[in-house]
Amino acid sequence: MAMEEISDESVHLMVTSPPYFNAPFDYKGVFKDYGQYLGVLRKVAREIFRILQNGRIAVLNIDDMLIAGEKFPIVADATKIFQEAGFRYRDRIIWKKPEGYLRISRRSGVILQNPYPMYFYPDNLLESIIIFQKGKFNYRSISKEIRRDSKIDIKEFSDNKWYMTLWEMNNVMPGSPLEKDIAAFPEEIPYRAIKLFSYKGETILDPFLGSGTTMKVARALDRNSIGIEIKKPLIPIIKKKLGFSGQQKLDNNQDVFEIIIRKKGKYGPIG
Ligand SMILES: C[S@@+](CC[C@H](N)C(=O)[O-])C[C@H]1O[C@@H](n2cnc3c(N)ncnc32)[C@H](O)[C@@H]1O
Repeated sequence: MAMEEISDESVHLMVTSPPYFNAPFDYKGVFKDYGQYLGVLRKVAREIFRILQNGRIAVLNIDDMLIAGEKFPIVADATKIFQEAGFRYRDRIIWKKPEGYLRISRRSGVILQNPYPMYFYPDNLLESIIIFQKGKFNYRSISKEIRRDSKIDIKEFSDNKWYMTLWEMNNVMPGSPLEKDIAAFPEEIPYRAIKLFSYKGETILDPFLGSGTTMKVARALDRNSIGIEIKKPLIPIIKKKLGFSGQQKLDNNQDVFEIIIRKKGKYGPIG
């Protein structure tokens, strides 16, 4: 995916959740094969490296994908791809969903029907959040005022256990009206990423915008944002999520909003 609208070193943080490789229901058959899918990730990684300022962070919510009994190691492959694009692999956070949550099926039920060896299929409650950095951050490049205005609330940080590599967060319920048919992530993911890795007034990019969750949170936290999406029918949903009425222009004087909708076939899907 090329992002030629965005100039070099102009973005301060990237937060995204790429399409899940041919996930049953959401992305069934979208990608020709796994190689094509990895090709898309490779192009995105290179572009993100180009447009991020030096020292800055890329956060991906991604997970291995089980298709017809075979698990595709997407987290490992994406990690390698981002390293090859020049990033330093900083960390992996595990997102644990509530135990009552199962979006697709209760696979573990098989062993209840057949309580014998070889019938074990665990239910998956986890996703990964992988964090990469481009070069070294210059802490002195931020003014005293901006540092003060962007201070992290240590009570919130401690009470909600942001300090661990295990984040327990609720998922978006399937069927919630604004995210229908979109594999949206909870606001808590961009919320934590934006608070932890960007300063007020900076620019956040989500190259797989979906329903617009990242831009909504960026706006609420006084950050500018850019979102890229290939599905044009999502525009009204994104606008609604961002709180725009039909008439309002997206770029006003207070905020820089930019939603780039890809023309299908011109840039994506590619690979
Ligand atoms: C997992 S969703 C992102 C959901 C988003 N985080 C939210 O909260 O709504 C991935 C999005 O990437 C978009 N997308 C962009 N480029 C794509 C490509 N080359 N192939 C498939 N989907 C693509 C899809 O249309 C989809 O909306």
